[in-house]
Amino acid sequence: MTSSATQSTPAPAAITFVPGPVLLLGAPGVGKGTQAQRLMAQYGIPQISTGDILRANIAKATPLGKAAKDLIDQGILVADAIVQDMVADRLQQPDTANGYILDGFPRTLGQAHWLDEYLAQSESGVSVLPVVAVSITADFTELLHRITGRRTCPACKRIYNVYSNPPLREGLCDVEQAALVQRPDDSESVFLDRMKTFEEQTAPVIEHYRHQGRFRQVQGDLPVEQVTAAINAALRELRTA
Ligand code: AP5
Ligand code: MG
Repeated sequence: MTSSATQSTPAPAAITFVPGPVLLLGAPGVGKGTQAQRLMAQYGIPQISTGDILRANIAKATPLGKAAKDLIDQGILVADAIVQDMVADRLQQPDTANGYILDGFPRTLGQAHWLDEYLAQSESGVSVLPVVAVSITADFTELLHRITGRRTCPACKRIYNVYSNPPLREGLCDVEQAALVQRPDDSESVFLDRMKTFEEQTAPVIEHYRHQGRFRQVQGDLPVEQVTAAINAALRELRTA
């Protein structure tokens, strides 16, 4: 039975901690989506992946999806104005009130400046907390291995890897039992183009947030749980600094 002394004990920090708005930055395949899904489950705040939103539009053959498909398949970025509108629209949703994890945005300096201004102009909700950025790193060989081994559930978007995180039954999602799919841009040749795009356009975004402060870098070439622990430690440090 719970004693009155126990009832009056303040809730542990682990329960009250609110990460607020978080940017997960890093190269293709570094684990942004994997970690965003884990943080989403842990904190009850949504993952906002611009890549996932674009792929959903492709699957539904919307005008946006039709325009984006060729670009994504070649590892080229979609125009800033398009993804910025998508993000602005998503940030209006009430589930972002306690925070969110932006996965894959911003990835140009133009998008970063837009987001800085957009959040500065917002007057309510999580805008009271400044955005914090966590960059995940891994070397080229590890990234290529992860990209070519990745499989995704088309129904629930859970991310698997045939080498490091296989499903219980080969080719099937553990939860939905749907047939897992490989992303069309996960070939070795498109990965090389995506890495070039990352180095030219997204690496400067990481430097932008590093110089702003409220930034941490974590090593991504460790087991998934250890990367999550490092991100959690970084978030606590950033929010208590
Ligand atoms: P997007 O979908 O964002 O792709 P990306 O940035 O290239 O990143 P990925 O999703 O490939 O990798 P990830 O870091 O999420 O890794 P994951 O967790 O899946 O964008 C796709 C395209 O959309 C872009 O190229 C562009 O065209 C367009 N786009 C999107 N956003 C845009 C924007 N803002 N502006 C313009 N255009 C935009 O993990 C990868 C694999 O590794 C998985 O199999 C996973 O199981 C495994 N893994 C993860 N962590 C570990 C670990 N610690 N150890 C072992 N294996 C691991
Ligand atoms: Mg992803």
